[in-house]
Amino acid sequence: MASDDDDDDVPIRVDFRDPATARAWIADTRIKRPYRPRFFAAFCAALAARPRLRILELGSGPGHLAREILVHCDVQHYLALDFSPAMRELAAEHLGELARRVTFVTRDFREPAWPAELGTFDAIVTLQAAHETRHKRHLVPLLERARTVLAPGGVLLYADHYLTPETKLPALAPARADQSRALQCAGLVDVHLRYEEGSMALWCGTNPAAAS
Ligand SMILES: C[S@@+](CC[C@H](N)C(=O)[O-])C[C@H]1O[C@@H](n2cnc3c(N)ncnc32)[C@H](O)[C@@H]1O
Repeated sequence: MASDDDDDDVPIRVDFRDPATARAWIADTRIKRPYRPRFFAAFCAALAARPRLRILELGSGPGHLAREILVHCDVQHYLALDFSPAMRELAAEHLGELARRVTFVTRDFREPAWPAELGTFDAIVTLQAAHETRHKRHLVPLLERARTVLAPGGVLLYADHYLTPETKLPALAPARADQSRALQCAGLVDVHLRYEEGSMALWCGTNPAAAS
Protein backbone atom coordinates (compact mmCIF):
# COMPACT_ATOMS: atom_id res chain seq x y z
CA MET A 1 0.00 0.00 0.00
CA ALA A 2 1.27 3.48 -0.84
CA SER A 3 2.20 5.39 2.29
CA ASP A 4 2.78 9.05 2.97
CA ASP A 5 6.50 8.28 2.82
CA ASP A 6 6.27 6.60 -0.57
CA ASP A 7 9.04 8.05 -2.74
CA ASP A 8 7.60 6.87 -6.05
CA ASP A 9 5.98 9.39 -8.33
CA VAL A 10 2.23 8.93 -8.57
CA PRO A 11 1.28 7.95 -12.13
CA ILE A 12 -0.98 10.36 -14.02
CA ARG A 13 -4.58 9.17 -13.62
CA VAL A 14 -6.42 12.18 -15.02
CA ASP A 15 -4.62 13.18 -18.21
CA PHE A 16 -5.47 16.79 -19.06
CA ARG A 17 -3.94 16.35 -22.51
CA ASP A 18 -7.06 14.40 -23.45
CA PRO A 19 -9.65 16.95 -24.70
CA ALA A 20 -12.67 15.16 -23.14
CA THR A 21 -10.89 14.86 -19.77
CA ALA A 22 -9.94 18.55 -19.83
CA ARG A 23 -13.54 19.59 -20.57
CA ALA A 24 -14.93 17.23 -17.91
CA TRP A 25 -12.55 18.65 -15.28
CA ILE A 26 -13.83 22.17 -15.87
CA ALA A 27 -17.46 21.12 -15.34
CA ASP A 28 -16.52 19.01 -12.34
CA THR A 29 -14.39 21.61 -10.60
CA ARG A 30 -17.18 24.24 -10.76
CA ILE A 31 -19.38 21.87 -8.74
CA LYS A 32 -16.75 20.36 -6.43
CA ARG A 33 -14.83 23.54 -5.66
CA PRO A 34 -17.28 26.44 -5.50
CA TYR A 35 -14.72 28.40 -3.49
CA ARG A 36 -12.34 28.83 -6.45
CA PRO A 37 -13.60 32.36 -7.25
CA ARG A 38 -12.49 33.43 -3.77
CA PHE A 39 -8.99 32.18 -4.58
CA PHE A 40 -9.05 34.11 -7.87
CA ALA A 41 -9.95 37.23 -5.87
CA ALA A 42 -7.15 36.56 -3.37
CA PHE A 43 -4.58 36.26 -6.18
CA CYS A 44 -5.83 39.54 -7.65
CA ALA A 45 -5.71 41.27 -4.26
CA ALA A 46 -2.10 40.15 -3.79
CA LEU A 47 -1.15 41.66 -7.17
CA ALA A 48 -3.34 44.77 -7.04
CA ALA A 49 -0.73 47.31 -5.95
CA ARG A 50 1.81 46.27 -8.58
CA PRO A 51 2.01 48.14 -11.89
CA ARG A 52 2.78 46.82 -15.40
CA LEU A 53 3.07 43.19 -14.32
CA ARG A 54 4.88 40.57 -16.33
CA ILE A 55 3.16 37.39 -15.17
CA LEU A 56 3.94 33.70 -15.60
CA GLU A 57 1.27 31.13 -14.73
CA LEU A 58 2.32 27.51 -14.22
CA GLY A 59 -0.30 24.92 -15.15
CA SER A 60 -2.64 27.60 -16.47
CA GLY A 61 -5.29 25.12 -17.66
CA PRO A 62 -8.55 26.64 -18.92
CA GLY A 63 -7.52 30.23 -18.15
CA HIS A 64 -9.91 30.80 -15.24
CA LEU A 65 -7.26 32.52 -13.11
CA ALA A 66 -5.74 34.31 -16.11
CA ARG A 67 -9.09 35.92 -16.97
CA GLU A 68 -9.53 37.33 -13.46
CA ILE A 69 -5.98 38.65 -13.29
CA LEU A 70 -6.20 40.22 -16.76
CA VAL A 71 -9.47 41.94 -15.86
CA HIS A 72 -8.55 43.14 -12.36
CA CYS A 73 -4.77 43.77 -12.41
CA ASP A 74 -2.39 45.97 -14.36
CA VAL A 75 -0.86 43.37 -16.67
CA GLN A 76 1.81 44.21 -19.20
CA HIS A 77 2.33 40.61 -20.33
CA TYR A 78 0.84 37.22 -19.36
CA LEU A 79 2.57 33.96 -20.19
CA ALA A 80 0.41 30.86 -19.66
CA LEU A 81 2.43 27.64 -19.41
CA ASP A 82 0.75 24.24 -19.57
CA PHE A 83 1.60 20.88 -21.08
CA SER A 84 -1.87 20.32 -22.52
CA PRO A 85 -2.78 21.65 -25.99
CA ALA A 86 -6.39 20.74 -25.12
CA MET A 87 -6.31 23.07 -22.10
CA ARG A 88 -4.76 25.77 -24.26
CA GLU A 89 -7.73 25.59 -26.65
CA LEU A 90 -10.19 25.76 -23.78
CA ALA A 91 -8.31 28.73 -22.34
CA ALA A 92 -8.50 30.57 -25.67
CA GLU A 93 -12.27 29.90 -25.68
CA HIS A 94 -12.71 31.10 -22.09
CA LEU A 95 -10.56 34.20 -22.55
CA GLY A 96 -12.09 35.37 -25.83
CA GLU A 97 -10.65 38.79 -26.75
CA LEU A 98 -8.37 38.70 -23.70
CA ALA A 99 -6.46 35.78 -25.25
CA ARG A 100 -4.72 38.32 -27.50
CA ARG A 101 -2.87 39.56 -24.41
CA VAL A 102 -1.67 36.07 -23.48
CA THR A 103 1.29 34.09 -24.76
CA PHE A 104 0.65 30.36 -24.49
CA VAL A 105 3.60 28.03 -24.03
CA THR A 106 3.17 24.27 -24.20
CA ARG A 107 5.81 22.92 -21.84
CA ASP A 108 6.16 20.19 -19.19
CA PHE A 109 7.20 21.64 -15.83
CA ARG A 110 8.56 18.27 -14.75
CA GLU A 111 11.40 18.84 -17.22
CA PRO A 112 14.23 20.63 -15.35
CA ALA A 113 14.86 22.94 -18.33
CA TRP A 114 11.27 24.26 -18.43
CA PRO A 115 12.24 27.88 -17.52
CA ALA A 116 14.65 28.20 -20.47
CA GLU A 117 14.20 31.37 -22.52
CA LEU A 118 10.87 32.35 -20.96
CA GLY A 119 12.10 35.78 -19.87
CA THR A 120 11.80 37.48 -16.48
CA PHE A 121 8.59 37.97 -14.50
CA ASP A 122 7.33 40.26 -11.75
CA ALA A 123 4.91 37.60 -10.54
CA ILE A 124 4.59 33.84 -10.91
CA VAL A 125 1.21 32.36 -10.08
CA THR A 126 0.04 28.77 -9.82
CA LEU A 127 -3.29 27.31 -8.69
CA GLN A 128 -4.09 23.61 -8.16
CA ALA A 129 -1.27 22.62 -10.48
CA ALA A 130 2.02 22.18 -8.57
CA HIS A 131 0.95 18.70 -7.38
CA GLU A 132 1.10 17.71 -11.07
CA THR A 133 4.84 17.27 -10.60
CA ARG A 134 3.38 13.96 -9.33
CA HIS A 135 5.14 13.96 -5.95
CA LYS A 136 5.42 16.51 -3.17
CA ARG A 137 9.20 16.06 -3.03
CA HIS A 138 9.30 17.85 -6.43
CA LEU A 139 7.66 20.99 -5.03
CA VAL A 140 10.84 22.72 -3.81
CA PRO A 141 12.74 22.05 -7.09
CA LEU A 142 9.75 23.39 -9.05
CA LEU A 143 9.70 26.59 -6.97
CA GLU A 144 13.51 26.93 -7.12
CA ARG A 145 13.34 26.79 -10.91
CA ALA A 146 10.47 29.25 -10.92
CA ARG A 147 12.59 31.63 -8.85
CA THR A 148 15.26 31.68 -11.57
CA VAL A 149 12.83 33.61 -13.81
CA LEU A 150 11.44 35.86 -11.06
CA ALA A 151 12.75 39.42 -10.88
CA PRO A 152 14.30 40.60 -7.58
CA GLY A 153 11.38 41.86 -5.49
CA GLY A 154 8.96 39.79 -7.58
CA VAL A 155 6.32 37.60 -5.92
CA LEU A 156 5.47 33.94 -6.20
CA LEU A 157 1.85 33.05 -5.44
CA TYR A 158 1.33 29.33 -4.91
CA ALA A 159 -2.01 27.69 -4.12
CA ASP A 160 -2.71 23.98 -3.86
CA HIS A 161 -4.32 21.42 -1.60
CA TYR A 162 -2.56 20.35 1.56
CA LEU A 163 -2.64 17.03 3.38
CA THR A 164 -5.70 16.14 5.45
CA PRO A 165 -6.93 12.81 6.86
CA GLU A 166 -9.22 12.62 3.80
CA THR A 167 -6.45 13.10 1.20
CA LYS A 168 -6.68 10.23 -1.30
CA LEU A 169 -3.13 10.51 -2.66
CA PRO A 170 -0.91 11.67 0.25
CA ALA A 171 2.25 11.59 -1.87
CA LEU A 172 0.86 14.54 -3.85
CA ALA A 173 -0.14 16.77 -0.94
CA PRO A 174 2.39 18.41 1.40
CA ALA A 175 1.38 19.14 4.98
CA ARG A 176 0.08 22.70 5.33
CA ALA A 177 3.24 23.81 7.18
CA ASP A 178 5.40 22.21 4.49
CA GLN A 179 3.77 24.34 1.82
CA SER A 180 5.06 27.59 3.32
CA ARG A 181 8.34 25.88 4.19
CA ALA A 182 8.75 24.89 0.52
CA LEU A 183 8.65 28.56 -0.52
CA GLN A 184 11.28 29.37 2.11
CA CYS A 185 13.47 26.42 1.03
CA ALA A 186 13.25 27.72 -2.54
CA GLY A 187 14.80 30.99 -1.33
CA LEU A 188 11.69 33.16 -1.09
CA VAL A 189 11.30 35.55 1.83
CA ASP A 190 8.39 37.20 3.66
CA VAL A 191 6.36 34.02 3.09
CA HIS A 192 2.80 34.47 4.29
CA LEU A 193 -0.70 33.11 3.86
CA ARG A 194 -3.07 35.09 1.60
CA TYR A 195 -6.15 32.85 1.65
CA GLU A 196 -7.32 29.41 2.76
CA GLU A 197 -10.47 27.39 2.16
CA GLY A 198 -11.42 23.80 1.33
CA SER A 199 -8.03 22.38 2.44
CA MET A 200 -6.33 24.65 -0.08
CA ALA A 201 -3.97 27.49 0.86
CA LEU A 202 -2.59 30.42 -1.13
CA TRP A 203 0.92 31.42 -0.06
CA CYS A 204 2.91 34.45 -1.15
CA GLY A 205 6.70 34.71 -1.12
CA THR A 206 9.03 37.43 -2.38
CA ASN A 207 12.24 36.98 -4.32
CA PRO A 208 14.87 38.84 -2.31
CA ALA A 209 16.66 41.70 -4.01
CA ALA A 210 20.19 40.72 -5.10
CA ALA A 211 22.82 41.43 -2.40
CA SER A 212 24.61 44.70 -3.15
C1 LIG B 1 -6.09 20.67 -11.97
S1 LIG B 1 -5.71 21.55 -13.44
C2 LIG B 1 -5.67 23.23 -12.83
C3 LIG B 1 -5.71 24.25 -13.94
C4 LIG B 1 -5.68 25.72 -13.51
N1 LIG B 1 -4.49 26.03 -12.75
C5 LIG B 1 -6.91 26.08 -12.72
O1 LIG B 1 -6.85 26.04 -11.48
O2 LIG B 1 -7.94 26.38 -13.33
C6 LIG B 1 -3.96 21.19 -13.60
C7 LIG B 1 -3.34 21.80 -14.84
O3 LIG B 1 -1.94 21.47 -14.83
C8 LIG B 1 -1.57 21.08 -16.14
N2 LIG B 1 -0.42 20.17 -16.03
C9 LIG B 1 -0.42 18.92 -15.53
N3 LIG B 1 0.81 18.40 -15.56
C10 LIG B 1 1.62 19.36 -16.10
C11 LIG B 1 2.99 19.41 -16.39
N4 LIG B 1 3.79 18.38 -16.11
N5 LIG B 1 3.51 20.53 -16.93
C12 LIG B 1 2.68 21.60 -17.21
N6 LIG B 1 1.36 21.60 -16.95
C13 LIG B 1 0.84 20.50 -16.40
C14 LIG B 1 -2.79 20.39 -16.71
O4 LIG B 1 -2.79 20.33 -18.11
C15 LIG B 1 -3.90 21.27 -16.14
O5 LIG B 1 -4.19 22.34 -16.99
